[in-house]
Formats: sequence, structure tokens, C-alpha cells
Amino acid sequence: MPTDAPLPMLGGLSAAEFLRDHWQRRPLLIRGAFPDFQCPLDPDELAGLACEEGIEARLVEERGEAGPWQVRHGPFDEAVFGALPERDWSLLVQAVDHYVPEVAELLEAFTFLPRWRLDDIMISYAPPGGSVGPHVDQYDVFLLQGMGRRRWQLGGKVPDDAPIIAGIDLRILEHFEVEGDDDWVLEPGDMLYLPPGWAHHGVSQSEDCLTLSVGFRAPSADEAITSFADYLGEQLPASLRYADAGMPPPEDVGELDDGAVERMRALILETLDDPARLAQWFGRVMTQPKYVDQLVPSERPTDPGAVVAALQEGEVLLRSPGSRFAWRAQDAQRATLFADGDGAGCALPLARLIASDAPLDAEALALPGAAELLAALLDAGSLSWDEEG
Ligand code: SIN
Ligand code: CO
Repeated sequence: MPTDAPLPMLGGLSAAEFLRDHWQRRPLLIRGAFPDFQCPLDPDELAGLACEEGIEARLVEERGEAGPWQVRHGPFDEAVFGALPERDWSLLVQAVDHYVPEVAELLEAFTFLPRWRLDDIMISYAPPGGSVGPHVDQYDVFLLQGMGRRRWQLGGKVPDDAPIIAGIDLRILEHFEVEGDDDWVLEPGDMLYLPPGWAHHGVSQSEDCLTLSVGFRAPSADEAITSFADYLGEQLPASLRYADAGMPPPEDVGELDDGAVERMRALILETLDDPARLAQWFGRVMTQPKYVDQLVPSERPTDPGAVVAALQEGEVLLRSPGSRFAWRAQDAQRATLFADGDGAGCALPLARLIASDAPLDAEALALPGAAELLAALLDAGSLSWDEEG
């Protein structure tokens, strides 16, 4: 995709312009981002998902029986929906892209961002007045109006320590003031991009308001350091440790002196400062599935010969919904393919193919090592055979 072509879904901005001026920096309202948008699922289907075991769903009531801003977590019994008031509540279902292929297809419009930055597509339903209160998210999000109308008000960038209402399960801002003219009613197909840390409040203005949140994730420094340290911990030999050969006699036996601190610092910095090792960890962490138990590994190892035969017969492999892939070049020919938190060395074009949206059919067999890697990914549950193909 040329990065300077104007993209209608970005309101005519090119990918490069959007990334330069808006991504992580400023909101962008895009009227008609998806012209004539037909929401791929209806409110009843969303409620159906919220009743299923293993699907993350929340019900937020502005005036719940037990007080203001009540949150209940799914799975829900269908009777719950019948007992709700006529207005002022929201149902939110995470990762709908994992369950509804037509929702996952929307992601094809977001190829101006690295796929491994994606978190999921959350869909919310609300009758009139429904919202989750004014709040701040730590993630970039594209809020696509799917059905009905929602009024969005933005309150500008707020500091990390902005006060939130105490004593409830939601992080709702105590103070929210609309900044300037940042107040719009979105219709189906309109989309609002919000960077992290930007206060926002979206209230349903219609009977059946469905909003799709295409959310992106970025690990916090706190998560990254803990996770990298865990990864390093598994790799480093027990013999690599604090060492003080050749040190001068201590001035005071009780003192932790500068020399000791410097030796420890050097050991830690040396082990951390290894770009190749860091990339191996980063690829694994960014491809970790959102819900690990959604991966279904195969019971018996797959024979690569059987993969070859099936592909040659015209069968096609599918990337499992929710599986994540990324690749990183090792040199001009070889790469690491990261899949669902694991990494494997392979031919670079093969890693690129598997981490793309392109079909995985017999053509893949032209690439060296394809049958073995595809068999391993089938075994891990990252790929499966297209049963309908
Ligand atoms: C919603 O869809 O109701 C809330 C989405 C958000 O504010 O992040
Ligand atoms: Co939000």
C-alpha cells in the first residue's frame, strides 16, 4: 500500500499523514469513514455472545439497583436483559472479532498500522442514554458507529492522576468538561480516532446504538520490564552472576560501596542490552493471545507429509481467530516467525506469508520448510483447516 495515497477511511488523509499528525497525538473525526456501513451483527446477536461461557462481557448501569454505575460481568442469563430499564445502560462485549468473521474482516481496513499492535474489536450496545461515563483509556482506539447514533464529547488530554469517582468498579472521571467544539453525534459509518489519555464520553442517542471499538495495545514499561526479566531469567546460565574478582579490600565491612553498585549495574545492563534477545522477547510478547485458552493445540503431532498432501488436494489453512503473528528478519534470507507467544526460525518469505492476510494454500509449499512449520502451527492451534473449503 503506498503510504501517501489518500485513504477515505482516514477522511482523505494518507497513512503517513495520519501517523504523523494524529496517531498517539490528536483525535480525528472521520465522517463516512465506512460509507453505507452495515453493522456485521445486530443487538440480539451481541446479547447472545454475552450469554456464552468464555466470552468477556460487561453490563454497565448508570442507575443500578445497588447504586450508581453498577458493573456486572458475563456470561449473562437471557433473563437479565428483559429485566433492564428502558434506558441508561450499556452492554460491552470484548474481542467480537474472534467470534464473528465478518467483524474480523473489518481489520483489513487497518493495515496502515502494524497488526501486532491490535488488541481487539469490542462492541457495545446501548439504549438511549446508555454510556460508560466520562473516562480515559490508556489505548489508542477507533470508535466506529455501527448502528444508531452516539454523541461523543471529548475533554482533552488529562493527567494520569486525574481524580476518579471512588467506590465503584468503573474508572469514571470526577470532572469532565468538553474541550472547545469537540462534541459530535456519530451516525453509522462515522468513526472517531482517540489517542491514549484523552477524556471522552459517548452517550447513546437512539434505540439501538452499536459502537465498535477497534482497540490497540502497548505494554506499559512496568509490564515490559517484568516480562522481559522473566524471559531473560529463563535464558541466562546460573554461572552468570555478580562477580568481584580483583576488588580492593573494603574500607568498612558493612558498606555497600560504589564499586559494588557499579559491578551489579554493569551485569544488569550487559544482559539487558542485547537487541537480538530483546527482539525475540518482544515478538513473543506482542503475539501472546488475548485469551490463551482459546488456542486449541492438536492432540497428536501433525505429519508434515499430510499437510503437503492436503494442500495439494486444494485444502486451505486458516489462521485461528484471535491468533497473532509477526515476523522479524534475521538476515536477507531468514526470519523469526512469532506466533501466539512463540518464535520459530524459518525462510523469510515464509514468515512474511504466514504473518500476512494472504491465503495459506498449496502455493506456500514452494517455500522451503513450509510443510514442517505449517504442521507445527497446526499443532499449536494457531492454524486450522478450513472446514468449509
Ligand atoms: C462504548 O462503546 O460504550 C464505550 C467505548 C469507550 O468509550 O471506550
Ligand atoms: Co473509552
